Amino acid sequence: MRASVKAHTNIALIKYWGKRDEQLFLPTNNSLSVTLDKFYTITTVEFDELLQSDQFFLNGKQAESNEMKKVAQFLDRVRTKANRTIYAKVDSENHVPTAAGFASSASGYAALAAASAKAIGLNLNQRELSQLARQGSGSASRSIFGGYVEWNKGIEEDGSDCYAAPILDTDAWDLRVLSVEVTTKAKKVLSRAGMKRTVETSPFFAGWLEAVEEDLITIKQALQERDFTKLGQVVEANALKMHATTLGANPPFMYWQSATVEVMQEVQALRERGIEAYFTIDAGPNVKVVCQPEDEQKIHDALAFLHVVHDIHHCRVGPGITYLTD
Ligand code: PMV
Repeated sequence: MRASVKAHTNIALIKYWGKRDEQLFLPTNNSLSVTLDKFYTITTVEFDELLQSDQFFLNGKQAESNEMKKVAQFLDRVRTKANRTIYAKVDSENHVPTAAGFASSASGYAALAAASAKAIGLNLNQRELSQLARQGSGSASRSIFGGYVEWNKGIEEDGSDCYAAPILDTDAWDLRVLSVEVTTKAKKVLSRAGMKRTVETSPFFAGWLEAVEEDLITIKQALQERDFTKLGQVVEANALKMHATTLGANPPFMYWQSATVEVMQEVQALRERGIEAYFTIDAGPNVKVVCQPEDEQKIHDALAFLHVVHDIHHCRVGPGITYLTD
């Protein structure tokens, strides 16, 4: 009753921002991401009759109690599905920079979903795995698949039509993503708390929901036409709109720090010099820069020159989950 799975992170090109159901992790809008080859989680799950409770080790160390609790709740869903009461030992290795933990890691819950389902004997297809992973972390629903992936919000109350599906394969379009780590001081508002506060209090949230529909149409055209300018423009604009909603929340908050803005401005300055680069930012201060292979090194050099830049990781389009054998 043991299984190991490798799952990669993804970066949303069109963001998931807002839930319509907190318990089932049902989003208010569709989102679209690209899976990244460089960052991943490997998780081994072993169900064992002798265990008195679940155990969770993250990078070889016993996980903190809040993370343990979330993982145990997630395993409860798996046990209910399988109609079993048996506990599990979970071992996760997170190959994700700035190891901010497990809670918001798309790769973490994608790997946990696939490994726990297999280990307990559930025979789930990828769509079902996407639905299960979603209930650990929304963005994990997209990390089941490689390439360019859309997560459909669905309309059913039970979430039965809410899952991700691939739009373009891993090798369909060779774009590059530079993951730019900046020096940070402030503590971040976790995505879960941030989107809840925005949905409940920001007057800009209605505008976000309207705009995101248009952005999805545009990005799908750009993907079909392999039109990088069209893609980059909508990616950057969509991230800005998502972050704008947080400024209208009560109390207001922002994920950017001065270093974040410096990187954003350098990306815009690069474009003025004729080098095509576009940024996107998730629920934190770091910046991801999307570009074409021929510009990758020039963009790296310009960003590495900024003193606020700590590290730059080079990513390509990555694959979906893989089952590992010992
Ligand atoms: O599913 P979570 O809790 O990792 O939330 C993800 C939220 C964003 O990263 C900001 C957007 C996204 O679609 O990944």
